[in-house]
Amino acid sequence: MAYKIAIIVGSLREGSLNRKMARAICGIRGDNLDCSMVEIGDLPLYNQDLDSNPPDQWKRFREQIRPADGVLFVSPEYNRGIPGVLKNAIDVGSRPYGQSVFDKKPAAIVTVSPGSIGGFGANHQIRQTCVFLNMPVMQQPEAYLGHVSDDSFDANGQLKDGPLKELVTTLAHAFHDWVDMIHRSRAALAEDSAHASQAAKAKEHA
Ligand SMILES: Cc1cc2nc3c(=O)[nH]c(=O)nc-3n(C[C@H](O)[C@H](O)[C@H](O)COP(=O)(O)O)c2cc1C
Repeated sequence: MAYKIAIIVGSLREGSLNRKMARAICGIRGDNLDCSMVEIGDLPLYNQDLDSNPPDQWKRFREQIRPADGVLFVSPEYNRGIPGVLKNAIDVGSRPYGQSVFDKKPAAIVTVSPGSIGGFGANHQIRQTCVFLNMPVMQQPEAYLGHVSDDSFDANGQLKDGPLKELVTTLAHAFHDWVDMIHRSRAALAEDSAHASQAAKAKEHA
């Protein structure tokens, strides 16, 4: 089954390595992950005063995330932390209180950097926020992708053969399996609960 995945890229840069990586991940699991990029560059800064009359861009963003079966964050690290544009998008999607579009959606977090630490700091800040937002976040493989450059990709935007491609391929498969496991488990629990309530009703009327 193909799962709908909303991809949020934490860089607005035209030649973003993170955007290239996001596309490469979709290419690897294109058979089972129906990916769409959800743009965040036009979102007005979150302001709680606007909750009662939200800007159109906030509405558009929320409506794009809502039907997704899972969310993939692919982001650079800025100053050892989460880029402001990405945090703003997450804040926009998380409100009004009690109506978060992220609630219960399985997620994975990939950080990409030309540097050697691979965005570890940003990765864990995003993870911390996702935990609060009640998103089951894939734990393994961890994806702090360091030493990434334009040269990591071929002319078609595919990752060149090598250890990076192997890791990203493992990751893409693991993310599909993670989303699949969460959705199947929930369906099984819902079925069990329906059977249990039918059995309870039958007992009442016996
Ligand atoms: C404001 C700013 C802060 C940055 N801070 C970090 C950092 O803390 N760690 C890191 O690995 N790279 C840092 N970088 C370098 C980015 O990893 C690099 O520019 C990367 O290509 C950005 O991702 P993108 O290609 O998807 O736009 C920083 C870049 C900018 C513009």
